[in-house]
Amino acid sequence: MTVLDLRDVTQVFGGRGQPVRALNNVSLGVSEAERVGIVGESGSGKTTLARIALGLTKPTSGRVTLLDRDVTELRSDHQRYIHRHVQMVFQDPLSSLNPRKSVRQIIALPLEAQRIGSPQDRERRVVELMDSVGLPSRMLDSWPSQLSGGQRQRVGIARALAISPKLLFLDEPTASLDVSVQARILELLVGLQAKLRIAQVMISHNLGVIRHAADRVAVMYLGQIVEQAPTARLYAAPAHPYTQALFAAVPAVGARKRHGAALARVRGEVASATNIPSGCPFHPRCPQATERCRGEVPVVSTVASGHQVRCHLHA
Ligand SMILES: Nc1ncnc2c1ncn2[C@@H]1O[C@H](COP(=O)(O)OP(=O)(O)OP(=O)(O)O)[C@@H](O)[C@H]1O
Ligand SMILES: [Mg+2]
Repeated sequence: MTVLDLRDVTQVFGGRGQPVRALNNVSLGVSEAERVGIVGESGSGKTTLARIALGLTKPTSGRVTLLDRDVTELRSDHQRYIHRHVQMVFQDPLSSLNPRKSVRQIIALPLEAQRIGSPQDRERRVVELMDSVGLPSRMLDSWPSQLSGGQRQRVGIARALAISPKLLFLDEPTASLDVSVQARILELLVGLQAKLRIAQVMISHNLGVIRHAADRVAVMYLGQIVEQAPTARLYAAPAHPYTQALFAAVPAVGARKRHGAALARVRGEVASATNIPSGCPFHPRCPQATERCRGEVPVVSTVASGHQVRCHLHA
């Protein structure tokens, strides 16, 4: 069963200046219990995609289907429907947790918003959630400011799990944490996935993180998915020159690096979404670009089972 289906989603941000084409004809499906990873440089459209899936931004065009229901219109009943089934874990746990609420109140909030259970049921559920994210129940009356970064992220995960969503979006959930804490949060997510079988979309700059957190990976470049494949296949045989450059730029996958530092080593300037190059948007940085790449937009070709690439070399 498909939990989330984005079809030809385009997002153009207007405003006074140049229009920004943040997403350009993106199609992505997420099946029940599947873990999808999204990698791409800063500005490639990852968060915009998440915001559209969560019903926080209405796409300029395209269709978003959540469990067989079109949720493209930002109607208030849609919002409630979306948040009943999709939850988000944010990059920075401190700014995403209300500093004036206790851990108990924070985790209970989605249950209250969706009017799930009696106050006693909710209390029981909150205690259970604390346990499943590995936090001691004595922390229920703590404030976010009293917790470590890793503990805060566990609270963010408990809150996201409270209503038993069908799909979890994780936008760089470990980027603000130390490496050792990062590893334990990832371990927690992998364990929860095995137990609860919630579909996950994990957004990350870090190819090492994605390798452990995803069954299938989509690589984004300037608002497009340029390659998509099962994780093992993508890591063994990346087909798009951009994906190959990403792997070449990583000295040792999983090694400590600054946020985005590895991707920044891909040669050439990152083009901007206000001025997308003609033809294949990657052509100015591509070592294998030909005349055709400068003039003609590549279509999606299937190079192996479940492995799609948008590149003239593979057409
Ligand atoms: N509300 C907005 N108004 C105008 N432009 C926007 C808006 N939100 C995003 N953008 C632009 O859209 C493009 C994609 O942004 P997005 O935040 O989705 O990228 P990202 O892949 O999440 O980047 P990062 O890795 O830095 O988080 C960028 O050029 C960004 O500046
Ligand atoms: Mg982002």
